Amino acid sequence: MTRLTIRRPDDWHLHLRDGAMLEGVLPHTAAHFGRAIVMPNLVPPVVTGAQAAAYRDRILAALPAGMAFQPLMVLYLTEDTDPEDVAAAHAAGIATSVKLYPAGATTNSASGVRDFDKVRPVLEKMAEIGMPLCVHGEVTNSDIDIFDREAVFIERVLHPIRKKVPDLRIVMEHVTTQDAVDYVRDNHRNLAATITTHHLIINRNHILAGGIRPHYYCLPVAKREIHRIALVEAATSGDERFFLGTDSAPHTDPNKLQACGCAGCFTAPNTLSCLAEVFEAAGLLRNLEAFTSRNGPKFYGLPVNSDTVTLVKGEPVTYPDRIETGAGPVTVFDPGFPLHWRVEA
Ligand code: DOR
Ligand code: ZN
Repeated sequence: MTRLTIRRPDDWHLHLRDGAMLEGVLPHTAAHFGRAIVMPNLVPPVVTGAQAAAYRDRILAALPAGMAFQPLMVLYLTEDTDPEDVAAAHAAGIATSVKLYPAGATTNSASGVRDFDKVRPVLEKMAEIGMPLCVHGEVTNSDIDIFDREAVFIERVLHPIRKKVPDLRIVMEHVTTQDAVDYVRDNHRNLAATITTHHLIINRNHILAGGIRPHYYCLPVAKREIHRIALVEAATSGDERFFLGTDSAPHTDPNKLQACGCAGCFTAPNTLSCLAEVFEAAGLLRNLEAFTSRNGPKFYGLPVNSDTVTLVKGEPVTYPDRIETGAGPVTVFDPGFPLHWRVEA
């Protein structure tokens, strides 16, 4: 197969940032994706409906003329979040979901949740109105090994929340382990998971063997190869509970390349080329559309995009090593193998 036409993809987990960085990265997502769930971990975070509406306006203002793209806004859950504000933002079409960051789990998560019982009224309200919760599934306890934090989160936090609020629809975001894949497969009710592009491609050796590679450092951190294989199996299976959330997370090179560098891989420009390669290698290109374009809208109760994109296979395509933004240079994810599929203009 050398041409593949699929419904236009969406990105169900994306960091666009704000200001000059937003202006620099947004065109790369809008070039290929119809919609994206836009993460609210700005400084300060996007907590209220009013803040989400203002952020949505800034994103639309940064969109180059002639490009179509719909940002789907997310509210950052804090222990002080007002259930009524969440419900009003949902009813007004301002907020699509709410994001739970355990406090301290990742970039700009200091205002996240420490005591999960404190947010129960918000979660119950969301269950009542059918609003999904996006979850960063890692515990933050310093005594838990960073490679175990996702598996421990499932047992200690996610499973108890699902028992207490069974009608809440939950997306376990950027899953990185066989444990998470198995948990989603075994728990059919109100549960789905996103998988990033980079976690389908790298394992922890890519970060640490033969020298430390900060551009592969993200959270949750990539795990052993057996976990990557489980993610590829889940993503390429067509199973409707798994869909693409790139977690494309731009940081400037100076912020990545320092003694304590930021977490995040910037995959927006070459994600579709990377994914086509992964699905083709698995012999399952026919399931690419389910993963990128159909399963996500189905979970969120939205229509599939009405237009299409065509991927064409040929000589390897090259992407710039980094893009220049008004905030500084941002390195583009290097999959480490040639990319033969490009998105037809
Ligand atoms: O690698 C990551 N980067 N993981 C996250 O959870 C946050 C993100 C960011 O905002 O940079
Ligand atoms: Zn993220």
